[in-house]
Amino acid sequence: MENKNSARNTQHSKQILGLVGSPRKLGNCEVFIKEISIKIEVPHELNLIRLPSLNILPCHACYGCIMGNPCPNKDDMDFLLESIKESDAILVATPVYYLGAHSIFKRILDRGFLFYNYIEKTYNKPCILINIYGIEDRMGVSPQTLMTFASFLCLNIKESVNIKAALPGEILMDTRNRQKAEALAGILFSDKEVKSESGCPYCGCDIVRIEKERFICTLCHSHFLMDNQGNRFKIKDGGILGPPEHMNTHREWLKGMKDRFLQKRKEIFKNSIPYKDAGKWIEP
Ligand SMILES: Cc1cc2nc3c(=O)[nH]c(=O)nc-3n(C[C@H](O)[C@H](O)[C@H](O)COP(=O)(O)O)c2cc1C
Repeated sequence: MENKNSARNTQHSKQILGLVGSPRKLGNCEVFIKEISIKIEVPHELNLIRLPSLNILPCHACYGCIMGNPCPNKDDMDFLLESIKESDAILVATPVYYLGAHSIFKRILDRGFLFYNYIEKTYNKPCILINIYGIEDRMGVSPQTLMTFASFLCLNIKESVNIKAALPGEILMDTRNRQKAEALAGILFSDKEVKSESGCPYCGCDIVRIEKERFICTLCHSHFLMDNQGNRFKIKDGGILGPPEHMNTHREWLKGMKDRFLQKRKEIFKNSIPYKDAGKWIEP
């Protein structure tokens, strides 16, 4: 998109990638991402991908990519991950569908083993996560899915926002949403860390499980407590998220799955084979 700040064909122009999670043309996700771009004062180009238009196939669970082999799926995952790698910053927006993010994000996340090939390059790229919902208080678990997507790519989440707008493209008719877009434009390339006032004190995710007296974050799986004033107390780091070196320790553990399976194969088959012919598979 050409705007007053864009500087096409200049070497210094930043590349911003807008990942539009809605199939609606000129819907709220698209319009809001474009408005943020227009308000960003740093010279840049805005490149857009309409995620639901991508061909993203299901993971075969073959562990090929974990072992360093190419993925047998020939689809648009490489295009998507290369596009993120080549960008300086990422704006991600999803419509809330049935109390969650658009399913395209889960399809991409199911292929997340491929992220390991990119995290050295995607680490710390600033991103903003936008959940757009239509009915008061019905954004469901959408923020958790976008945060999972960004966190496993080691992106630097500058802010995760939930914005209400129902009718296609109406989002900027509310001046508060225009102001929010401007504020987000100001933080994308700034060094300022936006501290979340609520949610997990480790990673900021606001979808938590409650187990007895403690909260367990559904993203980083850290444990924390909260007092009557809303102060949050860290108890235990879940150890899941971190910089690429840290994430790669999990990849190494996953690589070991092959040997662990081979070692236990006979015992596993003894238990699973008796179920081979139970039930009847039906197809459409
Ligand atoms: C299939 C479908 C399911 C939806 N489910 C929810 C929902 O669970 N909660 C909600 O607040 N809005 C829901 N909405 C409303 C959308 O989130 C809202 O219209 C949003 O602005 C769509 O963004 P878009 O214009 O970028 O597509 C749903 C819309 C559709 C089409």
